[in-house]
Amino acid sequence: MKVLIVGGGGREHAIAASVAKSPRVDRIYCVPGNAGIAQIAECAPIGAMEFDRIVEFAREKEIDLTIVGMDDPLVGGLVDELENAGLRVFGPRRNAAVLEGSKAFSKDLMKKYHIPTAAYENFDSADAALSYLERAHFPIVLKADGLALGKGVLICNTLEEAKEGVRSIMLDQKFGAAGNRMVIEEFLVGREVSVLSFVDGKTIKAMTSAQDHKRAQDGDQGLNTGGMGTFSPSPFYTKEIDEFCRKYIYQPTVDAMAAEGRAFQGIIFFGLMLTEDGPKVLEYNARFGDPEAQVVLPRMKNDVVEVMEACIDGRLDQVDLQFEDNAAVCVVLASEGYPVSYEKGKVITGLEQFEGKDDYYCFHAGTKQTDGGIVTNGGRVLGITAKGKDLKQARANAYEAAEWISFENKYMRHDIGKAIDEAE
Ligand code: AMP
Ligand code: GLY
Repeated sequence: MKVLIVGGGGREHAIAASVAKSPRVDRIYCVPGNAGIAQIAECAPIGAMEFDRIVEFAREKEIDLTIVGMDDPLVGGLVDELENAGLRVFGPRRNAAVLEGSKAFSKDLMKKYHIPTAAYENFDSADAALSYLERAHFPIVLKADGLALGKGVLICNTLEEAKEGVRSIMLDQKFGAAGNRMVIEEFLVGREVSVLSFVDGKTIKAMTSAQDHKRAQDGDQGLNTGGMGTFSPSPFYTKEIDEFCRKYIYQPTVDAMAAEGRAFQGIIFFGLMLTEDGPKVLEYNARFGDPEAQVVLPRMKNDVVEVMEACIDGRLDQVDLQFEDNAAVCVVLASEGYPVSYEKGKVITGLEQFEGKDDYYCFHAGTKQTDGGIVTNGGRVLGITAKGKDLKQARANAYEAAEWISFENKYMRHDIGKAIDEAE
């Protein structure tokens, strides 16, 4: 069969690498893709928001399955457009992708269906939000309602900071229209864990856990980024926590969406905080995480295409989802200056070192093929993933492999997976 992947980051490279392992797949296409994906797929220069062109491309190439990896096209309704054209797609429709697309929607859903989350209020006027803050406890968390590249969350320690935050989100529209509404919520304390899951509308199968490192610098300092590295599994996500989440968070979320007439088919990413009062949902995403996919998918034993097809056909209950009994760590190699400003176009060397090494992966994110070789083309450039028998071994392997690559202005965090040592 022919598979089309929509997106062009490290996550999409990880998805493409898993799809390529499926014996059922003859050919992979990707829009727009990147230089790494181009080694296993035919990439076409079509943007992820160019819905008409994507539908036309899928028809022309007679695509059997399209996988939409990114939030913007999901929230914008690309799945609906492809379905309306009679094409088979893995991913939630627009009315279900709102689970990620509107934080106010997801908070109201959790409240209505008693899914554990931080206490909150939604606001659609800055005046109401500002007067609410006068009575609030600090720190407090401000969230722009809509998609904001993972940057629409402000943690404010004082009333002044919070007021400034409300003004920047709602009045100055720092995150654009995403800030027409906002959520103000209780600050939760605990350890964060990401759990991705396959969903077919009624059944949910959780994948192995992972933990992201969102801040740009070592010691969780600096600005929030898309993610500087991940490890999987999380040693803090115990069997008891998993059982609790399955019963009180995962299945109830899927049931709630179905009850609202928004049956969810695709990936639900649960961003959880493990608090003293038990696990609570920080956020939902309607897609694989980036770089969570880079540590979760390489550990998956199933044929990913078969699992996705089971989701589309509503027979996920028949799938026995299995993960390897090992660990993986992903270290992101970024361009110095990310996420603010950075130079592109630097030649990358050492990529060939990954060839023929089974437990090492070099997932491309911001890269481009030029006549002079593969060059950097974004803030996050590569995601270096390595597996190991346990987390420590995987971490040592990933950092070793991170040294195989060179480019001018290469930047990485040196403490990805530090929490592993705290778990002992
Ligand atoms: P989100 O995009 O909602 O996951 O928020 C981004 C990051 O902000 C999360 O990964 C957390 O580190 C932090 N965060 C979000 N909500 C809260 C909260 N209620 N309490 C504490 N930290 C939070
Ligand atoms: N790594 C977090 C995300 O993909 O949203």
